[in-house]
Amino acid sequence: MCKIIDVRILLFLVLLTGFSQQLLTAQETQVEIKPAQIWVDTNGHQINAHGGGVLFHDGVYYWYGEHKLEGKSEAQFADGGIHCYSSTDLLNWNDEGLVLSVDYEDEDHDLAYGCILERVKVVYNEKNKQFVAFFKLYLKGVGYESNYVGVAVADKPAGPFTYHHKFRGGGTSKGSGDFSMFKDDDGTLYHLAVRKPDKAFVIGKLDADYYYPDGEYQIAEGVKVHTEAPAVIKRNGVYHMLGSGSKGWNPNPARYHTTDNLLGTWTYHGNPCRGFNAIDSLGVEKTFGGQASYIIPVQGKNDAYIAMFDIWRPKQPITGRYIWLPIKFVDAKMLISWRDTWGIDVFDLE
Ligand code: DGJ
Repeated sequence: MCKIIDVRILLFLVLLTGFSQQLLTAQETQVEIKPAQIWVDTNGHQINAHGGGVLFHDGVYYWYGEHKLEGKSEAQFADGGIHCYSSTDLLNWNDEGLVLSVDYEDEDHDLAYGCILERVKVVYNEKNKQFVAFFKLYLKGVGYESNYVGVAVADKPAGPFTYHHKFRGGGTSKGSGDFSMFKDDDGTLYHLAVRKPDKAFVIGKLDADYYYPDGEYQIAEGVKVHTEAPAVIKRNGVYHMLGSGSKGWNPNPARYHTTDNLLGTWTYHGNPCRGFNAIDSLGVEKTFGGQASYIIPVQGKNDAYIAMFDIWRPKQPITGRYIWLPIKFVDAKMLISWRDTWGIDVFDLE
């Protein structure tokens, strides 16, 4: 009798293990992007890479973003460093871990815990064979008053990154705020940023190492003042910039500008978003609850771009979510329409 029960228990355990493995596999393999819903990595953990950007290198996408600390609100300093994930399909992301951490030991370090480290963007420098990470850096104790651009470097895309230096962006003693790094076809890297304290939108070139501004910044004529969250792509010789207004952590209407000369005059086109996010009951006047962070050119597809937005949760930043939506070009202008779910094959179908 006892042996029969043992065998049954054993059988039950074997079945249970198989079942839970199936569940795990089902959770791991994602075939669709679900904007504004919880997005887990291949370990089943919620992705923690806010205000991020994506770099494609040697067949792999790397998503870098703000690592938010568990249990901390923004007011309690939630920034823990740069978190990186990798993927070959833009849907299933492997956790590459914290690739640059704030410093918990040295109070005088530029990255001392208590600093604000936001909006990470990583660019590959062909000349130096170096991955260069840029981020908004407000030193511990300074708050949002006066900003630096922090620079960290790595010789591999998944790091680890080493903190290198900081500079004042924008050409003023207060620096710059939200920014985009745009690498043009000739390898020149541009820093497009909202200047502090006047919130004019400015643009400057970086040196060939991608370490420091090379020359003066200039005002990007035609770009609305107080434009934050810029994300730039170049399509058919035209530069397209998605952004937002300036409302702290609160969602506001997206902004869209284009130019055919990065250092020339930009044209404003209003809000490129359409539709309604029924999950959060938010429409285009709040950009579905999101704020732009980056535009991903999808590799191997024709004219395929993904707009990345963050849903900020300043009271519990680690629970912040992501809105990724395909960009469609109509009459050479971008349109970003809400979708409850979508697959990368959307670019083949439309
Ligand atoms: C809006 C910016 O886009 C964010 O990165 C962050 O700095 C918040 N403002 C802070 O209020």
